[in-house]
Amino acid sequence: MAKILPILSSQLNIFFIFSFFFIIFISGEAHGFAKALDEKLFGLNEEKFTHLRLFWHDILSGTSPTAVQVVPPVANSSTAFGLMNMIDDPLTEGPELSSKMLGRAQGFYAAASQQEVGLLMAMNFAFIKGKYNGSTFTVLGRNTVFSKVREMPVIGGTGVFRFARGYVQAKTYKFDQNSGDATVEYNCYVLHY
Ligand SMILES: *[C@@H]1O[C@H](CO)[C@@H](O)[C@H](O)[C@H]1NC(C)=O
Ligand SMILES: *[C@@H]1O[C@H](CO)[C@@H](O)[C@H](O)[C@H]1NC(C)=O
Repeated sequence: MAKILPILSSQLNIFFIFSFFFIIFISGEAHGFAKALDEKLFGLNEEKFTHLRLFWHDILSGTSPTAVQVVPPVANSSTAFGLMNMIDDPLTEGPELSSKMLGRAQGFYAAASQQEVGLLMAMNFAFIKGKYNGSTFTVLGRNTVFSKVREMPVIGGTGVFRFARGYVQAKTYKFDQNSGDATVEYNCYVLHY
């Protein structure tokens, strides 16, 4: 009896282990909404690394502004805390607005700091040129606009930029203190497929 018990228990163990896998298999089939895919079939075999240099134009003045205030700042904030602007800003190849149009930066920025002018930027760079036409990537990050260079993460993308990750470096090219109009150079470093 003492000899039979361990054998019996090991057989029981095996039985339970198999039942366990069987249940996983069955439940996997029953809820077949998710399955593993072959990355190569989706063209995900070679990651690319792309640098894009473009100029971002934030125009608040004039009759057709590209940035519009949708939430005013709280009263008496020296950092415009609470302000929120919705943007549809042109992205061009050169610093002049008349240079080649590459796409638009669509989203918003909001003043999120009470100590300095620090923006939360949330925008999609939507491209219209060549093989990038129709593709987007998303920039979400902190922008202390009076710093020389501000770095923000690229957190995803579509089209050519599927699975995008990376960062942008923003550098003010021109800023008009009276109107608030700004031209900012964006150097984008993006990993994608
Ligand atoms: C804002 O500042 C003005 C002038 O200093 C003051 O009269 C007013 O009460 C302040 N408002 C708030 C909400 O603190
Ligand atoms: C970009 O794509 C749109 C929609 O597919 C198309 O109408 C437009 O002509 C394209 N532009 C360029 C420059 O390829």
